[in-house]
Amino acid sequence: MGLLQLLVLCTLTACYVTLSPPAPVLSPSLLSRGCNDSDVLAFANFALQDINRDQKEGYVLRLNRVNDVWAQSQGDLGSLFYFTLDVLETDCHVLSKKAWKDCGARMFYDSVYGQCKALFFINKPKRVLYVPAYNCTLRPVSRRNIHHICPDCPRRSPVDSSDPNVLEAATESLAKYNRESPSKQYSLIKVTKASSYWAGSIGYSVEYLIKESPCTTSSDSSCSLQSSDSVPIALCKGSLSKTPFKKFVTATCDFFKSQVQAAEGQTSPVTQGPTSLPKVKGPQEENTSSPPKPAVPRGSVQHLPDLGDEKPEESEDKGPQEAFPVQLDLTTDPQGTTLDVSFLFIGPEEEKLVVLPFPGKEQRSAECPGPAGDANTLVFPP
Ligand SMILES: *[C@@H]1O[C@H](CO)[C@@H](O)[C@H](O)[C@H]1NC(C)=O
Ligand SMILES: *[C@@H]1O[C@H](CO)[C@@H](O)[C@H](O)[C@H]1NC(C)=O
Ligand SMILES: *[C@@H]1O[C@H](CO)[C@@H](O)[C@H](O)[C@H]1NC(C)=O
Repeated sequence: MGLLQLLVLCTLTACYVTLSPPAPVLSPSLLSRGCNDSDVLAFANFALQDINRDQKEGYVLRLNRVNDVWAQSQGDLGSLFYFTLDVLETDCHVLSKKAWKDCGARMFYDSVYGQCKALFFINKPKRVLYVPAYNCTLRPVSRRNIHHICPDCPRRSPVDSSDPNVLEAATESLAKYNRESPSKQYSLIKVTKASSYWAGSIGYSVEYLIKESPCTTSSDSSCSLQSSDSVPIALCKGSLSKTPFKKFVTATCDFFKSQVQAAEGQTSPVTQGPTSLPKVKGPQEENTSSPPKPAVPRGSVQHLPDLGDEKPEESEDKGPQEAFPVQLDLTTDPQGTTLDVSFLFIGPEEEKLVVLPFPGKEQRSAECPGPAGDANTLVFPP
């Protein structure tokens, strides 16, 4: 009984507090933050970088804007942020390990955009920055809308990577690259993106991962030897279009940095330039052999089709707020749940975060969303 009364009292106090300041308060311990605050932007940047590092496939995501952010104090342990980030795909493959700021943007008619929800934990004195959980949902920008606002833009249609025309385009493109390669030869691992376009005749553009091939020239007999090693070393972009008289083939490859450095026998620089944040390492970098990472995946990046391609009755049912479903529900309990983060710290103590239900769309932090890098309305999730 006593506990119940205490709870009621707490709730009343919280409600009372909620009424006085204009800033919305979800739970007494969730603090509204500004989406353009410099520390919020730095943390959002770090969180997205951590999400990118966690991927094995797909493209590096860049931050378009901070859509929403809430902060929760964890006492001596630090702070936990609840981020909703509007993101855009870059042209770098995640295996390049490039920072999104070093990656190129895609043309707006080729954009893939979406939203990530992420928890971000920071303990400044101990130099711990970590994303305990995230989930992202991406879609290609609607082709119908592109055509509507830009009738002259290239009309590209996504094509399945298993389409024989796509495979032919990738093979022809890589053959051209190999013919022009002075020594090394490369072979195809897989196509990562493919679309068709119209250029007087149908053309195919492809992006594909390659590995080093054991042969040194395209006619080398050792080419039949399959190299057991299939580590992707570069992302290539190419295209193939044919007229009755001529074939047009293009090929460019962007080699991943670690590979270039390994090939040149250099050691990668460990230190970075000065930043506003303390120099921090995620748990995986601190000591590869010591802290065991949690076995459960921290999150995933989900790809959905073009919104305009969905059946009308389906989208009506779902409503606009369901267009980018991003779930990040570690708990539905308003009191929260605990999350063990001991592995982030060197000492033997058990360290646990209190995680609350992810703030819903109904409540938004004051001064959110923040300014966008790309203000094209086609790339804002509704
Ligand atoms: C990293 O792991 C090695 C081997 O387990 C251990 O000897 C070393 O002390 C660890 N270093 C740090 C900084 O924890
Ligand atoms: C992330 O999204 C997937 C569905 O896409 C869902 O099954 C999973 O529970 C989500 N993760 C969290 C922590 O909510
Ligand atoms: C965001 O912050 C920067 C620097 O603090 C400022 O120059 C800019 O005007 C702000 N933008 C908005 C939309 O508030």
